[in-house]
Amino acid sequence: MPLELIQGDIAAQTTCAVVTAANKELMGGGGVDGVIHRAAGPELLRAIRQLGGTPTGTAVITPAFGLSGQGVRHVIHAVGPIWRGGHASEADLLASAYRHSLELAVQHGCDSVAFPAISTGVYGYPLDQAAEVSLRAITTFLWDHPALQVRLVLYGAGPLNVFQRALARVAPSA
Ligand code: AR6
Repeated sequence: MPLELIQGDIAAQTTCAVVTAANKELMGGGGVDGVIHRAAGPELLRAIRQLGGTPTGTAVITPAFGLSGQGVRHVIHAVGPIWRGGHASEADLLASAYRHSLELAVQHGCDSVAFPAISTGVYGYPLDQAAEVSLRAITTFLWDHPALQVRLVLYGAGPLNVFQRALARVAPSA
């Protein structure tokens, strides 16, 4: 399975594409987005602000600007759902944000992409539920795109453990 779970910093990755957890206004933000924007420089903010926004559950792609020095070619700005208790299509929207991001990576000729755990910070999605939805979306996509390398970058040992346990449920042979 071309899927790897690691503990680390999303801004330190050297994959072809790196995903950030954006908001639908594409205005730049804190958390992962702040880290990516600091690493990529002000051109990244100018580039996404020109795009004007994108609906929850979708993603847009820009050049990687300052991150290109470490081999990253694209930043994918994925908009996950805000957690509202689980009955507002959060799971569908989260899966869709991953799927759109993966499609953009493939369409732009990438063989590798790194993700943070979208929606699990400021947006409040419970980590164990987000892990299962995210891993299901990624593993389903990989069935049709086995050459793509996907790395999930978890921020801390606790989140890594939650994702590892979820992976054992979602893809027991992985
Ligand atoms: N590397 C990897 N993961 C990280 C890092 C890092 N350096 N720093 C934090 N995390 P968040 P969201 C984890 O809040 O919930 C922004 O302001 C963090 O522990 O960045 O989708 C946007 O503009 C958490 O598990 O994203 C939006 O308005 C995960 O990354 C809003 O926040 C995602 O946390 C999006 O919220």
